[in-house]
Amino acid sequence: MADTIHKVEHGLERPVISKRPPLHETYLEFGAPVPDAYSVPIDRLTITDPEIWRQGAYWDRFKRMRDEAPLHWTPDSFSGPFWSVTRYEDIRAVDIDHKRFSSSWEHGGIVLGESIPDFELPMFIAMDEPRHSEQRKTVQPAVAPNMLKEFEPLIRKRTQDLLDSVPVGEPFDWVDTVSIELTTMMLATLFDFPFEDRRKLTRWSDVATNQQDPDICPGGEEQWKAELMECLTVFMEIFQDRQRNPQKNDLISLLAHGEKTRNMVPMELLGNVILLIVGGNDTTRNSMTASVYGLNKFPGEYDKLKADPSLIPNMVSEVIRWQTPLAFMRRTALEDVEMHGQTIKKGDQIAMWYVSGNRDERFWEEDPNRLIIDRRQARNHLSFGFGIHRCVGNRLGELQLRILWEEIMARFSHIEVLDEPSLTSGAFVKGYTWMPVICHPK
Ligand code: HEM
Repeated sequence: MADTIHKVEHGLERPVISKRPPLHETYLEFGAPVPDAYSVPIDRLTITDPEIWRQGAYWDRFKRMRDEAPLHWTPDSFSGPFWSVTRYEDIRAVDIDHKRFSSSWEHGGIVLGESIPDFELPMFIAMDEPRHSEQRKTVQPAVAPNMLKEFEPLIRKRTQDLLDSVPVGEPFDWVDTVSIELTTMMLATLFDFPFEDRRKLTRWSDVATNQQDPDICPGGEEQWKAELMECLTVFMEIFQDRQRNPQKNDLISLLAHGEKTRNMVPMELLGNVILLIVGGNDTTRNSMTASVYGLNKFPGEYDKLKADPSLIPNMVSEVIRWQTPLAFMRRTALEDVEMHGQTIKKGDQIAMWYVSGNRDERFWEEDPNRLIIDRRQARNHLSFGFGIHRCVGNRLGELQLRILWEEIMARFSHIEVLDEPSLTSGAFVKGYTWMPVICHPK
């Protein structure tokens, strides 16, 4: 499907991933090879097994679903039964049809499965109208074009300082040193969060989406709840402090003064904080890693970029398409809906697999499995969603990636990936946990 990374001796240790039991009887044992998608009957094809994601072995599954069962039914999984929508046009149609397909946390929200009883986290990504728009409008000023202009010199300075501090000519882990650090700094700025404590934001982001990962949350649900409650305590204090002071343009101050958000109950504050932490952190972080990885996997594209750095903005969109940092969003049907000769029943869960739509041969003119940095349609990717919930931070994410690449090109002749990266395990946040690189000086 694509060129592979040539492994180079680097001396760095790949982080150990602990053995874990399968989450469901239809899932694989840890480390077991993922069977070929065509070796099982299509109605038994699993897709949300974390092991499939950890091994990056989902492409042939999505292709088969797109070709043979574009509305695919999984009768049983760790997250219960659900439909999969895998073709570009179908995903777009479901995403913009918010009257029939709900995002509301009251029906289970935007990830598959049910919320933990008595620990629901209302957040505006998981709300329907009119509450969704009321709250979205409140935070929008923090990422509006005038704020992005204001942020740009700061993002650039921090990016420059960070890139100037990496060990040139020596192997290091790109994920932690650059991708996590840069996005965490940005998040601390957006929240006006104590800068020296910023890694707490990284931790809460990791915890929030990895309740089932024993390396991140060995204490399971109890630990998950306890750490999120700690997050709430810290943010409640900041929220109350911002309420006592005049409004500024940071996200917490906007929420603390917003007419529709200042009286949020604590769990709603926590929900929205988690939304902004995960939304602003994991996604951009994994796009940053993907940009370096993709250009190494497709070296001809790196050559194109070196010959013409004005391709950076289009490359940023293409990387976000190719990576698809959030693999899916879930909806719940509010009424029976016919699609591809089948009926999605009221109350059913539906996964809109952006990751598959971004590789749908029916839509993309040039081979969608390849990273093509001057792809004509790159901006039409599904990675930010469509419709009323379309990512509110999309321009900010793009800005951070553009600046990162402008500063990389100014400093390094080449960033070389030394080994295949380690991948996140889980079907929602699609990303990287480790990737060894060497930065070669200009
Ligand atoms: C490459 C980077 C990013 C990607 C791929 C991404 C992806 C997404 C997706 C798929 C959605 C849901 C769309 C839908 O349901 O139709 C979303 C919503 C959202 N994103 Fe992003 N995101 C990124 C960066 C950011 C950043 C930097 C922020 C920080 C401010 C952010 C904040 C949000 C918020 C608050 C929502 C909820 C919007 C709503 O419900 O109205 N995202 N994002």
